[in-house]
Amino acid sequence: MKKIQESVNYIKDQAGITPEIALILGSGLGVLADEIENKTEIPYGDIPNFPVSTVEGHAGQLVLGELEGKQVVAMQGRFHYYEGYDISFIAFPVRVMKMLGAEKLLVTNSAGGANRHFNVGDFMLISDHINFTGTNPLIGANEDELGPRFPDMSEAYNKELIKLAEEVAEKKGITVKKGIYVGFSGPTYETPAEIRMVQRLGGDAVGMSTVPEVIVANHMGMGILGISCITNMAAGILPEPLGHEEVIETANRVKPKFIELVRGIIKSVKS
Ligand code: HPA
Repeated sequence: MKKIQESVNYIKDQAGITPEIALILGSGLGVLADEIENKTEIPYGDIPNFPVSTVEGHAGQLVLGELEGKQVVAMQGRFHYYEGYDISFIAFPVRVMKMLGAEKLLVTNSAGGANRHFNVGDFMLISDHINFTGTNPLIGANEDELGPRFPDMSEAYNKELIKLAEEVAEKKGITVKKGIYVGFSGPTYETPAEIRMVQRLGGDAVGMSTVPEVIVANHMGMGILGISCITNMAAGILPEPLGHEEVIETANRVKPKFIELVRGIIKSVKS
């Protein structure tokens, strides 16, 4: 708690902003942070106690400012468990953003479609998740000031925010699906057998992020909205191998529509 407070104090000194929405943006959508207005950019390395990426070219910074008239804080550069970080690296920034004032978290990611009714390029509002990462960011001593030892996960993704996102999408003529995100640790893509398992368990999309951040945010009682961009069909669904190139290519192709949707949601969120 003391460490979080130190980070929060430093950030508050740099940026005169009380963000109401925290943004964690997945591959391809990080550019949204560039569109934040009146912004203060703070490199992770400057923030006391903040985890810093050891991977070259993944510096990362916190961006605070305004988007669609709302005060926001965005993580530009995200920590993935598969990069070898301690899971606490993923927890800390989420906690700092909450303590800065953000009561809501909007998290986006790229994901593989396991649901055969999905198409590449679809957007999926996450209605729930299955944690298949084999770990949990809350393992360890519980900080009671942050949240309970045994957090309820029965509405990890806020129903009102999902409804609002559906309304925004409909108004904009953007089709959105809804479904269950199954989070694996990665970095391998899943095997076809794992995808058949996911389908039998009721999963609709698979990915390597989001679940840890959502658990931490849920622990602190944040209202969470998660949106996946289906960048590829999951392993074994189509007769072709998976590659990062396709993920990036799809994310880039749908980026303008994704940004329009996310901006629309931010605009419509009630304070
Ligand atoms: N599997 C896991 N993670 C992913 C995928 C996938 O098919 N596509 C994008 N991220």
